[in-house]
Order: sequence, then C-alpha cells, then structure tokens
Amino acid sequence: MNVIQFPGEELSNATRKSLVANEPVALRTYTPTQAVLKSSAGIFHFTADGRRLYDYSSGVLVANLGHNPVRWTKNLLARMGWHNSSGQFAGESNEEYFPAVPLTAYNAISEVEAQATQRLLASLQKSTLGNRLQQVMWAASGSEAVQKALWACLHRDEERDIILATRFGFHGKKGLAGAVTGSERDADRDPRVKFIAFPMQECDDHSKTEFDPAPYQQELEGIWNQFGSRINCLITEPYLGGGGSYHPPAAYLQLVQEWCRQHDILFILDEVQANFGRTGEMYAFEKYGIEPDFVCLGKGLGNGVPVSAAAGRADIMRSLKYGEASDTWSANPLGCAAVLATLDEFESTDIIAHTQSLTPIFLAGLDALKETGLVTRVRGEGMVFGIECAEAGSLHAGEVANRIVQAAYLGDGSGDGIHLLGALAGKVIRISPPMTITHEQAKTSLQLLQNVVSKLASELT
Ligand SMILES: Cc1ncc(COP(=O)(O)O)c(C=O)c1O
Repeated sequence: MNVIQFPGEELSNATRKSLVANEPVALRTYTPTQAVLKSSAGIFHFTADGRRLYDYSSGVLVANLGHNPVRWTKNLLARMGWHNSSGQFAGESNEEYFPAVPLTAYNAISEVEAQATQRLLASLQKSTLGNRLQQVMWAASGSEAVQKALWACLHRDEERDIILATRFGFHGKKGLAGAVTGSERDADRDPRVKFIAFPMQECDDHSKTEFDPAPYQQELEGIWNQFGSRINCLITEPYLGGGGSYHPPAAYLQLVQEWCRQHDILFILDEVQANFGRTGEMYAFEKYGIEPDFVCLGKGLGNGVPVSAAAGRADIMRSLKYGEASDTWSANPLGCAAVLATLDEFESTDIIAHTQSLTPIFLAGLDALKETGLVTRVRGEGMVFGIECAEAGSLHAGEVANRIVQAAYLGDGSGDGIHLLGALAGKVIRISPPMTITHEQAKTSLQLLQNVVSKLASELT
C-alpha cells in the first residue's frame, strides 16, 4: 500500500505511515492529503508539522460553530458538572472520584437527556412546519437516526413494507440507511426499497431553472399504481449532499410531500447534514417550506460530540416497544449536554443571519473559479456548496478535483493552506467552512483558493 507522504512533513509522514500499517484504509474516505491534525481553533486546523489550514469542511459539516469554541466548551463542561460555577475543575485533587453527570445512564434517565429532548423539540416546533415533530429518538450517528426513523415507520403496519428513496441520496452506510442510499444499480439491494428521481438537472447551477412537476408526478403515480398501499414511507434529503451537492427547487419537495399526504405515506426528511443552519435556516424543512413526519438530525447537532436523533410523530413511534430503538449510546448524557450547548449558541447569537450574509460572498468567490477553466459548476445554498471540476488536458475531472485538494493543502506560498474534503460523486469538491467564519476570513481564504486553482490551471493547460 502506497503511503501518502509530503516532503518536509516528518511528523505527519510518520503518523500517516503508522496508520496505514495499523488500520485498513477503508476507515477513512480518500483525500490526496491525509492531513494530520494536531490542533484546531475556530476555522483553522494546525497540522503536526505546523501548517495552518483554513478548514473548508467543518469535519464533515459537523463543527458548524467552529472548532473548540470557548463559550460552548465552558457550557458543556458546566452542564456535565466537570466545571464548577467559577469555571474550575470540579473534582478535589485528593479524591479518586468526584460527583458529576455520569457518562453513561443506560437503563436510567438523566436530567440532561430530558432537558435536551425538550429543548430540541421546542427548537423544531418553533415554526409551525415542525408540528409533526413531537418526540425524539436519540442515537449516536446519522445512519442510526435514519435507521430508527425507518424502523418506526415500518412498525406502523407490517403489510406496508415498501420504502421509497430518492435516487443518488446518501443516508449512511449501515443497515437500512445503507439500503436507502444510492440507486437500484448498486448490488444486493434490499427488495423493499424502490428509488424515484431527484431533480438533478434542475439544480445544475445555483441559478435554478423553471421546475416542471409533470415527469415527477407521472413517476409517483406509476409507482402508486404498481405498489399502492404497500408503500409505507418516502425518505429524501433536502438537497443531495454526498451525491454531489444538488439543491432542488422547493416545489419538488413540496410536490413529494403532497403526494405522500394524499396516500398516507410517511414523509422522512434526512437533515443529518443540513440541520443547524447549513441551508441558511436552522432546519432545511423551514427553508423548503415542508412539514415532514420525521426528520433525521446529526452532524452539527452536537458540534463534534457524536450525537444524532430522529424526531417525528408520536403516534408512529408509539408502535415501537420498550427497547426496540435503544442502544448503548442513545441519549448518552455527553451527547445531550453537547446538544444543549449547541442550541444555546444558535439561540443566543446571530449565527443564522451571519450564515445568510456569507452566502453571496461564497457564491461570488466560487463562481470566480470558473474563470480558471478547472471548475464548471457551482451549486449550493446557505453555507454548503459543491464545485464541480472539469477535465484538463489528459486528466479527467476526478483527477483535477484531487489535484485541487492537494494544491489547496500546499497553499499559494503565503503560509496558509485550505483543508478540503476528497471529491464527492467523483468530481465535486464540497465547500462547507464553519458558519462562524468572518467576512474577512471568507474573502481571504477564497482569494487563496483562487490563487491556488489559477496556478494549477496554468500548469495543467
Ligand atoms: C444526509 C446524510 N444522512 C446520513 C448520513 C450518515 O451519517 P453518519 O456518517 O453519521 O452515519 C450522512 C453523512 O454524511 C448524511 O450526509
């Protein structure tokens, strides 16, 4: 196995080597940089060899508030009882243990769980569009939240076993979440899952074209004629995230929801990636004007502490019995405390308005990359964008994307670089910095990206 190495990065290279020896590469998605992060603060990562990188990924849309925010961290420590009211470590140095919130409360209830559940529901129900989001099932990862939402729906009526999913979506890799990801072309499909079209052509650039509902209506009618009341639920993402950043006209999601309502089909919106501000609204269902029966939440929900949730209709969840949606980590107090600390930030700051003010800056900066010839399309909203790469010379678009990721890491000689995720859908680079990036940092880093991509273009063409 070839180990990715960079000249002059002694410490990082040693870490990269040791991981390739001791872990399968399958554990991480491919990036040509395999950046070794030593510490992170706000929108910056610092590598083991002292490189400073603008984080254009937020993990994978997780650290929406930036990395290690002071107020959020203090809040988390206090909520866990690790810090006392004057901000000092709460334990006595002469004692072996100290009383604080337990890290596990399995088969029990913690106060922090009850608070997090109440606060999350209040946040979801702030708009009337969240009326159906009446109860919460906690989990640790996005896939588990999706799985739990699907379990609840399938339990409603065993005769209704068909799940509809929008083609080329990403809902995770595990269990039922994996089953509703991708398309019928993937091998060993769960026969209960049927795929329907997502409007990809209609969102080919950020300036959306007219939406013609007719072909989508026809497809839905066809599928109803085929499976009828065996259809249990329909799951979609507000926008295709992992599928390459396709942000649909709101009319599409509204049409799908209306069709679901007509046929008493449960409508699940997977907001694992979109929640907590990414679309420029707290929740994507607010942005798109829809009222889902279930939403799946994750990633930014805990700003980096692993926590996820499926929120939805109480009458549907009631069909699950004691233990049917429980696991070791669901509703663990640390995750719940992180949700509370994150909600506190969203509710007491202007982060959503700030995110909205960043959108035109990013769209303009990313659109300018088209001038280099290496980027053909820019799609996105709020603070989540995808730039689609073009082929250049003998390099196909995917290779161009990899070269951009690598060049951004190395920077333009000014001292800083940019941390980018590896390409999505073969050739799309995701741009999703923490939403706390300032206008000035946004402009400086976009200029850095422009310099890097322009230089690469002159080398490749
Ligand atoms: C929309 C969506 N759903 C579900 C998931 C799966 O989340 P996890 O990787 O935490 O299982 C992801 C992850 O990228 C996602 O983007």
